[in-house]
Amino acid sequence: MENLDKNRMPRHIAIICDGNGRWAKKRGMPRTYGHRKGGFNIRDIARNCNELGIEAVTFFCFSTENWNRPKDEVNYLMTAPLKFINRFYKDIVKGNGRLRLIGRKDRLSKEFLDLFKKLEDETKDHTGVIVNLCVDYGSYDEITTAVKKIAEMYKNDEIKLDDITPKLIENNLFTKDLPPLDLLIRTSGEVRISNFLLWQLGYAELYFTDVLWPDFNKKELIKAIKDYQSRDRRFGGIKNDNK
Ligand code: IPE
Ligand code: MG
Repeated sequence: MENLDKNRMPRHIAIICDGNGRWAKKRGMPRTYGHRKGGFNIRDIARNCNELGIEAVTFFCFSTENWNRPKDEVNYLMTAPLKFINRFYKDIVKGNGRLRLIGRKDRLSKEFLDLFKKLEDETKDHTGVIVNLCVDYGSYDEITTAVKKIAEMYKNDEIKLDDITPKLIENNLFTKDLPPLDLLIRTSGEVRISNFLLWQLGYAELYFTDVLWPDFNKKELIKAIKDYQSRDRRFGGIKNDNK
């Protein structure tokens, strides 16, 4: 399998899909042109992950802070995915992947939420890769929401103080039923996390590449996985010479 060690595949990959705007600018095109190409690329990389047997892939598509962008751009990012998904709806349902929406639900349109709900339901029994699309997602919001839920349980005497463990916190995050995050990829040369999966990144391997998201293809994905496979993951222990 493309020279990859099949015994050391990451189970869960997260990707900060960055660089759409610069990709478009380099071509003298509007930023939305880059987002369009970036959208197609999410589909393609999700397919590649499925082919490679990755269990879950989580894409950072729109952050809780991206609402600060110009109105036209926000409008495009909130409407174009609907057209895109409707166009490929049959393919998604016929395919093997499971689609999920992660993030705040109170600021997205009903149309957006309804479409994803329908897709989530239609793909929930599939056996392939779980594709999480993070839209209006931010880690501060996710963790705050979890803290509120736990505080409520405590208040209602459903849990005791000592029941508050890392496991309980994890179980109250949006990612609760996903495999642990193994690898984070960020494209476009930015070396920061930008409020993405702060808790889940605890022991993930980080991979940064200068490639802009619309240019990040299967070859680049395999390069990232190979890099991941070259890492010595000790989880705070000592070097494992058997690996
Ligand atoms: C990533 O590309 C897509 C979103 C955050 C919606 P950008 O839009 O951030 O592209 P650059 O960083 O301006 O090139
Ligand atoms: Mg950016």
